Amino acid sequence: MTSIIQQKSIQHHPRLGIEVLQGCNLTCLTDIQIHELKTSLWEHGVIVVRQQHLSAQELEEFARQTFGNLMFGGPSKPLDPDISPDLQSQYVNILGNPKGLDQEPIEKYAWEWHHDKDRIPRIEGLEMNALYVVMLYGVEMPGEDIHGQPHTTEFLDMVEAYNNLDPQRQQQLEQMSMYHLPPIFSKSADVATDVPMKVHPIVSTHQVTGKKGLYLGSDTAIPVGMEDRPEEAKHFWKDLFQTVIDRTPVFSHVWYPGDIVFWDNSQVMHRGVPYDATQHQRIALRLGVVDNQSIQK
Ligand SMILES: [Fe+2]
Repeated sequence: MTSIIQQKSIQHHPRLGIEVLQGCNLTCLTDIQIHELKTSLWEHGVIVVRQQHLSAQELEEFARQTFGNLMFGGPSKPLDPDISPDLQSQYVNILGNPKGLDQEPIEKYAWEWHHDKDRIPRIEGLEMNALYVVMLYGVEMPGEDIHGQPHTTEFLDMVEAYNNLDPQRQQQLEQMSMYHLPPIFSKSADVATDVPMKVHPIVSTHQVTGKKGLYLGSDTAIPVGMEDRPEEAKHFWKDLFQTVIDRTPVFSHVWYPGDIVFWDNSQVMHRGVPYDATQHQRIALRLGVVDNQSIQK
């Protein structure tokens, strides 16, 4: 198994997945190191910081100081007495089976390709093009997935996906927008339910780098003009995504405990890979934050 992990971990992608701040502790970065981390994130879409030992509270504090106000979660979230307090914080979600091998993971929707931005479509005043960053911290990770391969999260570079399209197709998509729904409809208190679906161009321009990339959301997205034709909308999305996946190499991050992967949902899609939760424990802390410090207005 070790040799497979080593073999897969040395794969390289021209843009995604670089390791940054080697040997650093995220809880005590200098301003220069934080600048380096954010610059790398916008430039590379997916970055990795390894060998971290953070509590959920420390992860949350790091996110607040580095990116800005946290927007999801809140003080009403109760502590779960069956889970270590070190793994719990108001804005941090625990993924996997933190209560043991008999606990079925609930995040199966994450095994389909999507951009996160889960709740942005239903939050008033927040644009779809906001710089929504996800931090995923692997506290305990399975040794393998259900196929016996190293446990990974997979990523697609949507800048590369745009660049790989024919010029004609690029021009056609530049004229189009889609309505977006969250992959899961959430009724939690911090999400308004009466906000109309938000519209976003399919070809979107990154707010910091200015690069063009495709923004597909998830397969619930509906092209403007196809609101009354759900079958056609679904077909459009699937056909476009098939073109993307046929032409764009997938980057797989092979997980080691202590890794924190950051990704920029503006121009990166991702999916999780299923694992056998009766055989392996997976404890991952996830935190989503909208950066409000990087854009010079
Ligand atoms: Fe996700």
